[in-house]
Amino acid sequence: MSHDGLACIILAGGKSTRMKSDTPKVLHKIAGLSLIGWLLRTVEAMNPDRVIVVTAPFSDKAIAAEVAPHKTIIQKTAKGTGDAVKAALPALKGHEGPVLILLGDMPLLRAESVADLISAAQEDGAGMAVLAADAPNPDGYGRLVTASNGALAKIVEDRDCTDAQRGISLINTGAFCVNGTHLAAWVNRIKSNNAQGEFYITDLPEIAAEDGFETTISILEDEDEALGVNDRLDLSQLEYMMQISLRLHAMDGGATMIDPQSVFLSHDTKIGQDVMIEPNVIIGAGVEIENGATIHAFSHIEGAKIGAGASVGPYARIRPKSVIESGASVGNFIEVNRSTLKKGSKAKHLGYLGDVTVGEKCNVGAGTVVANYDGYEKHKSTFGKGSFIGSNSTIVAPVAIGDGAIVAAGSTVTVNVPDDALAIARVEGDVRPGWALERRKKKES
Ligand code: UD1
Ligand code: MG
Repeated sequence: MSHDGLACIILAGGKSTRMKSDTPKVLHKIAGLSLIGWLLRTVEAMNPDRVIVVTAPFSDKAIAAEVAPHKTIIQKTAKGTGDAVKAALPALKGHEGPVLILLGDMPLLRAESVADLISAAQEDGAGMAVLAADAPNPDGYGRLVTASNGALAKIVEDRDCTDAQRGISLINTGAFCVNGTHLAAWVNRIKSNNAQGEFYITDLPEIAAEDGFETTISILEDEDEALGVNDRLDLSQLEYMMQISLRLHAMDGGATMIDPQSVFLSHDTKIGQDVMIEPNVIIGAGVEIENGATIHAFSHIEGAKIGAGASVGPYARIRPKSVIESGASVGNFIEVNRSTLKKGSKAKHLGYLGDVTVGEKCNVGAGTVVANYDGYEKHKSTFGKGSFIGSNSTIVAPVAIGDGAIVAAGSTVTVNVPDDALAIARVEGDVRPGWALERRKKKES
C-alpha cells in the first residue's frame, strides 16, 4: 500500500485536559501500545517519505521518545488545529506530494481507510479530501455541509453550528489529505474568526474552493474507526473494542478460547494454531505462544515465549525474558523470571525460578526457590539435563547443578553439584521412640 511522495503530519499538540493526567494523551495505551503508536502502524503501512508529529512544549520530550525515528516539531501555543499544521510547514520544505493530516488520538483508523482518503484527494479537480463518517451521535464533531450536488461546501465546528447544521450526521473525523504544492499557501490563509478564536484546519475546504479546487469526501465504512479519546471512559471503551478485535484475530488463526471476554491480549501477541487459552488469562507485551500450547486459567504472561505443546498454569506467572520450550510444563503458583525451561522439563507446583536455565527433562520439585538476588546483584544458575531438584529446596545462586544430578528434598544448595551426584544439605533426622507418649503422660498427669 505504498504511496510515492507521501508526507504525514500527526497533530498531538493539544492540552488534553479531560484526561486529567501527567502523561500526554497520545501516550496512554490500549492493548499495551500508545494511541500514537497504533496510528503510526497505520501510517507506516502507507510508506510515507516523512512523518512529522506536532507536539506541545510540555509533551515534546516524551512523545519524541515514543515516535522515534520520526521527527517532532513543537507548536509553541495551542492555537488550534490549523495553527498546528502551520507549525509543521517548515519540516515539509521541498515536499510536493500529497500530505496526510491525522489526529494523534485515533487508534482504530485502518490503513485501508487512509489509502481511500489519499486516492480521493487525487481525483480530478480535487485539491484535498476529508475523511468523514456517518455518525449515529454526531455531537461534538465538525459537520460536513454539502451542496445540492453532494459536493462539500464547508465544515462547521459543533460550537459554530446553526440548529439545522447540528442535525447533520456526516462528521469530520479530523483526517485530511491535501495537495502538497498548495498546502502552505492555504494554511497561511486560515483566520481565527470563530467561536473559540482558534485557527481551524477545517477552514481549508473553503480556502481551496477560492482557488478553484474541490474537496472530495471519503466516507468510512465503519464509523467506529473515527472514535477518538478525550477522557478515561473513551480510553476504556477503545480498549474494550481493541480486545475484541485481538481475540477474533487469535481465534481466526486457530486458537480456542473458552471465555474470550476474560482473555486479555496485547498489540503484539502472537498465537499459533490449536493453542488453548482458558478463562481469566492476561497476556502482556512481547508474548509468542506456539502451536498446540495450553495456557490454563488465571495465568499472567509477559515478554515470554511459550513453545509448541507446552503447558502453563493454572495460576502461573511468566515474566519477561523467559522461554518455556516445547513440551515443558509450568504448573500452579510458579513464578518464572528471566529463565528458560528446556524441552520436556517440569516445574509443577509452587516456586520461584529466577535467572535459571532448567535443562531438558529436568524435574523441579514442589516449592523449589532459586535465591537469585543477594540484595545487590542477580546471579544465574543452571539445572542440568535430566537433573532432579527435590521438593522444598533452596538453590542459592550462582549454582550449577550437573546433568543427571539429584538434590535431596529440603536442601539448601550453595555450591555446584557435579553430574550424576547427590546433594543433601539438610539437618540429619533424629527419631526418638516413645518420646511423644512419655511427654503426653507427663503433661496429662
Ligand atoms: C477536531 C475537528 C473537528 C473533528 C474532530 C474529530 C478542528 C477545528 N476540529 O475537533 O471538526 O470533528 O476533531 O475528533 O479541527 N491539536 C494540536 N494543536 C492545537 C489544537 C489541537 O496539535 O492547537 C491536536 C490535538 O492534540 C488533537 C487534535 O489536534 O490530537 C484535535 O484537537 P481537538 O481539540 O481534540 O479537536 P476537536 O475539538 O475534537
Ligand atoms: Mg478531539
